[in-house]
Amino acid sequence: MVHFSQAFAAALLASGVVAHPGGNTNKEILRRQAHLDHPERRSVQSCKRDLVESGWVREQHLRREARLHELRVAAGFAKPEDIVRRDVGEVEDEYGVSAACTLDPEATEGPYWVIGELIRQDLLTGEKGAVTHLDINVVDTSTCKPVTDAYVEMWGTNSTGVYTGVQARGNGDGSATAIATNALRGLQKTGTNGTATFITLIPGHYVGRTNHLHTIIHHGATLLPNNTIQGGTISHVGQFYVEQTFLGQVEKTAPYNTNKQAQTTNAQDMLFNMGKQGGDDPVLKISLIGSTIEDGLYATIDVGVNPKARQNPQPVNMWTAQGGKPVPNSPWTGYPDSCRYCGFRPPRKEKKEVLYEA
Ligand SMILES: *[C@@H]1O[C@H](CO)[C@@H](O)[C@H](O)[C@H]1NC(C)=O
Ligand SMILES: *[C@@H]1O[C@H](CO)[C@@H](O)[C@H](O)[C@H]1NC(C)=O
Ligand SMILES: *[C@@H]1O[C@H](CO)[C@@H](O)[C@H](O)[C@H]1NC(C)=O
Repeated sequence: MVHFSQAFAAALLASGVVAHPGGNTNKEILRRQAHLDHPERRSVQSCKRDLVESGWVREQHLRREARLHELRVAAGFAKPEDIVRRDVGEVEDEYGVSAACTLDPEATEGPYWVIGELIRQDLLTGEKGAVTHLDINVVDTSTCKPVTDAYVEMWGTNSTGVYTGVQARGNGDGSATAIATNALRGLQKTGTNGTATFITLIPGHYVGRTNHLHTIIHHGATLLPNNTIQGGTISHVGQFYVEQTFLGQVEKTAPYNTNKQAQTTNAQDMLFNMGKQGGDDPVLKISLIGSTIEDGLYATIDVGVNPKARQNPQPVNMWTAQGGKPVPNSPWTGYPDSCRYCGFRPPRKEKKEVLYEA
């Protein structure tokens, strides 16, 4: 197991980078470190042998290859008989080396989680940008088997870096329009292969953070008649990223190129750097469907979770038929102007250290 050094964390903390205007990432950094240091932490990589030997890696590769081809054919970029196949042995060798991420308290939910979102595959709701068919496999790293009955929740900003369902000074230009829409937010249940699929956008950037998608994985939740879930537990709170060179190309397309907010690269983003530590790789594997970004994208990632782990992320708002409504007593209320512990409680053993007092 790779340990994330206290010294490195201290250096990151000293750099004083902000996550959102007026906020700071110190607590988020410490939370990520607590995850990396956790003695029971296991990654998808540690299941590599089981997943390869059971044929799951091969089957999932073939399934995804066929799905990408289907999207290409449907969009008129390939003929049905012209499927491009990769060598499966090579795919099995590489499995877990890239585009696999891990379990546990791995990243912050951030200040803009909206609870009560709808179960739906297509999250676009009129938003424009680089349309992405996202395919997420969830693997139980304690049994090395796919998790077949979890709800995967996804949310991200629109292409100009504004979260829907909330209004806050730190959310883009702070305008009041985003609170009325649930675009780019929703949940899907994992099927027999542990797969959840979405249609969403590559998120835009906002001040202090590189482009990222948020995810939360729910277990044992009850489906309500209005297509939302209630109850259950949360094993994983994570963030997905986009490789920098490709991200630079996305940022040159409309409407990303109209975003006036300052940009942060992956390399400059402390949470990205910490997400890459300890053998984790929260970077999406992305393929073009056609010949340009505008033709659409296909993105995949595998997420390892311990379904018995219990995370306690805190929503700022709840999605209702009347738009986003504040969750009473949320620690994120008023962020970044006020914030009670911002959803993070430092582990007891670290209490005497000064690191997170900033
Ligand atoms: C699960 O994967 C298998 C093998 O690739 C595939 O045939 C099947 O359709 C998949 N099931 C679902 C529900 O996607
Ligand atoms: C993103 O959302 C904000 C707030 O609703 C809106 O003003 C902006 O136009 C949206 N961006 C795009 C590209 O539509
Ligand atoms: C769905 O139903 C729950 C329980 O009645 C309710 O609290 C929630 O506001 C509803 N959500 C929407 C979007 O209508």
